[in-house]
Amino acid sequence: MSLEGKTVVLGVTGSIAAYKAPTVARKLQSKGADVIVVITEAGTKLVGPLTFRSLTGKPVIVDMFDPSTEWQIEHISLAEKADLFLIAPATANTIGKIAHGIADNILTCAVMATRAPVLIAPAMNVNMYENLVVQENIRRLQELGYSFVGPKVGRLATGIEGRGPLADPDDIVRRAEELLGEG
Ligand SMILES: Cc1cc2nc3c(=O)[nH]c(=O)nc-3n(C[C@H](O)[C@H](O)[C@H](O)COP(=O)(O)O)c2cc1C
Repeated sequence: MSLEGKTVVLGVTGSIAAYKAPTVARKLQSKGADVIVVITEAGTKLVGPLTFRSLTGKPVIVDMFDPSTEWQIEHISLAEKADLFLIAPATANTIGKIAHGIADNILTCAVMATRAPVLIAPAMNVNMYENLVVQENIRRLQELGYSFVGPKVGRLATGIEGRGPLADPDDIVRRAEELLGEG
């Protein structure tokens, strides 16, 4: 299985599981994918853009209005480059924004502008995940054709067991391959 020639835009949000996103990026790269990382402001508090920059050798996009960035209208450019848009980890907040057409950062703008399949890997506290508003947002996105992987059942950062931890990076990559027709 190869992702050679495929561009995956990896969106990283402000979940404690953001530390696993570099592993996801590495695994996609090891399959041959070109990985471009876009990270929310909250995401940068949990994992440094420099980590992704070092792994991918590419600028990491955080600020939509940064004049020093490489592309002209970045969210459109990103959206067009993507063969797959993967959000891992995805917070309740970002899932809610996408479900309601809110595009107030580079990640949500690019998701709104893309025609590529979107794969969302939620990660959050079990109570957040089971919150009916979150469940309704996920159901709405699934009905609209967005794909999901996880969360898995396991021990959360707070020590309690439940559905909420990010899916295993291997499972995320496998699902990405399926969506790209390579699985
Ligand atoms: C240490 C820490 C860990 C967090 N982990 C999560 C998480 O796993 N899932 C989640 O939905 N929100 C989590 N949050 C809350 C989000 O960071 C917050 O909702 C933020 O506004 C998300 O912004 P974003 O979706 O733009 O990244 C966490 C916050 C902190 C301070």
